[in-house]
Amino acid sequence: MRAWIDGSLLADPGQGAVAVTDHGFTVGDGVFEAVKTIHGTPFALTRHLARLERSAAGLGLPAPDLDHVRAGVAAVLADGADVDAMGRLRITWTAGPHPMGSGRGGGPPTLVVAYSAIEPAPRSTTVVTVPWTRNENGATAGLKTTSYAENVIALAHAQRHGGSEAVLANTAGHLCEGTGSNVFYVLDGELRTPSLASGCLAGITRDLVVEWCGAREVDEPLADVRDRASEAFLVSTTRDVQAISRWDDRDLPAPGPVTERCAATWADREAGSMEP
Ligand SMILES: Cc1ncc(COP(=O)(O)O)c(C=O)c1O
Repeated sequence: MRAWIDGSLLADPGQGAVAVTDHGFTVGDGVFEAVKTIHGTPFALTRHLARLERSAAGLGLPAPDLDHVRAGVAAVLADGADVDAMGRLRITWTAGPHPMGSGRGGGPPTLVVAYSAIEPAPRSTTVVTVPWTRNENGATAGLKTTSYAENVIALAHAQRHGGSEAVLANTAGHLCEGTGSNVFYVLDGELRTPSLASGCLAGITRDLVVEWCGAREVDEPLADVRDRASEAFLVSTTRDVQAISRWDDRDLPAPGPVTERCAATWADREAGSMEP
């Protein structure tokens, strides 16, 4: 693993480098991006940086200097990341040092870029619906903030029940998303995915799959989707297009024909451009 903070590479990324009063640490007052790299080159970095800016604005943080972020990305990738078939960058932008309550006052923001190699995700996986809901009306709905404790709890629940990902409904009972992924499914022969009004993150992979594979954005009860979909898949930066083989007690074809087509389209397009 390599890490860079506010302009300097860390000799030991495991050692403390962020102030104990950093609001990202004390109250989760920060935003982040996870970006895939292929042989040391980031995929869709421009789209990820645009979302980092949107998330920062949504939290009322100053806008990150994207040239500075790109310098951090170059620094962590400079020393041999190209030998890794796949890697993950994590870009974190927090409010910086502040008083230890929820109120802000202080700063300046903290910028961290970290990198480590990862393995490709399996082609199919199992998911578990969790009892907690996404709040599509919440102040952080749709923002990629560092307040991920709800996702941690949901994912641990799914893993205890034999899934690799948790699936959440929103407060209306409609399908929303996974803890780190968006969901697509085929119902009545049509490829569909929840709309952004569901409270899901505007996933970069989701946007590209909608554009490249043509899915209808629609909000439907999670239970209907789970019980009636003929196939379903997860999408995310690290999963790409990943078939769902089991959703709670229901087995699904993995991959089904539409999923297979989307995965092939994804592979073709990704091979064609690293900045789609
Ligand atoms: C809550 C949530 N939804 C969806 C996604 C998928 O987004 P992307 O395709 O940009 O990785 C993520 C990514 O980590 C996420 O955290």
